[in-house]
Amino acid sequence: MSFTEKIYSKWMKETQLNKYEGIFVEFIVPAAAKLRFESARVLDVGSGEGWFEDFLAGKGITPRLAVGVDASPHAQKNALFVLSDGNSLPFANEAFDIVVSFDTIHLIQNIHELVRVVKPGGFLLISDFCNPETMEGKRARLLKSFAGLKLLKEGVVGDERETDYVALFMKV
Ligand SMILES: C[S@@+](CC[C@H](N)C(=O)[O-])C[C@H]1O[C@@H](n2cnc3c(N)ncnc32)[C@H](O)[C@@H]1O
Repeated sequence: MSFTEKIYSKWMKETQLNKYEGIFVEFIVPAAAKLRFESARVLDVGSGEGWFEDFLAGKGITPRLAVGVDASPHAQKNALFVLSDGNSLPFANEAFDIVVSFDTIHLIQNIHELVRVVKPGGFLLISDFCNPETMEGKRARLLKSFAGLKLLKEGVVGDERETDYVALFMKV
């Protein structure tokens, strides 16, 4: 990895960890009675190098099962990693309690796949990059894509480096 790549990767990781912190404080902690990562089978679609799983571990949270799916062979070591296209997930219907996907949903056309693999009563926690100009458009697309699910909470997290629109849904 070149010096520039190293710097960019460090910057990216710090940016993502900061967003996860916002998601943790604003979305995960307030829903902790229902959204129990510790006892859940968790799927992370577009998991990259598994930074979210590192983040959870840093909070002392180890899911019952953590599976990361990514279309690129990133070196994820902290979860069961499956090299796969998120548009066609190699899992049974309702196999997971929680599906998360951070900054990847704009790359997935077949959103139905994420819904298919969550059990009824399970949760989807989704984020996508936005700025004040793109926020309404991102929000509208996401809400349309997941119409049929119950929207429990939505909001914006991040800082001056980068912000995300975030939504927490329940499959009813
Ligand atoms: C912006 S990165 C986000 C990574 C990680 N979720 C995070 O929070 O840092 C988007 C990821 O989606 C992956 N990706 C792109 N298209 C995909 C697809 N069709 N199915 C699964 N993963 C995909 C990329 O390889 C990349 O790792």
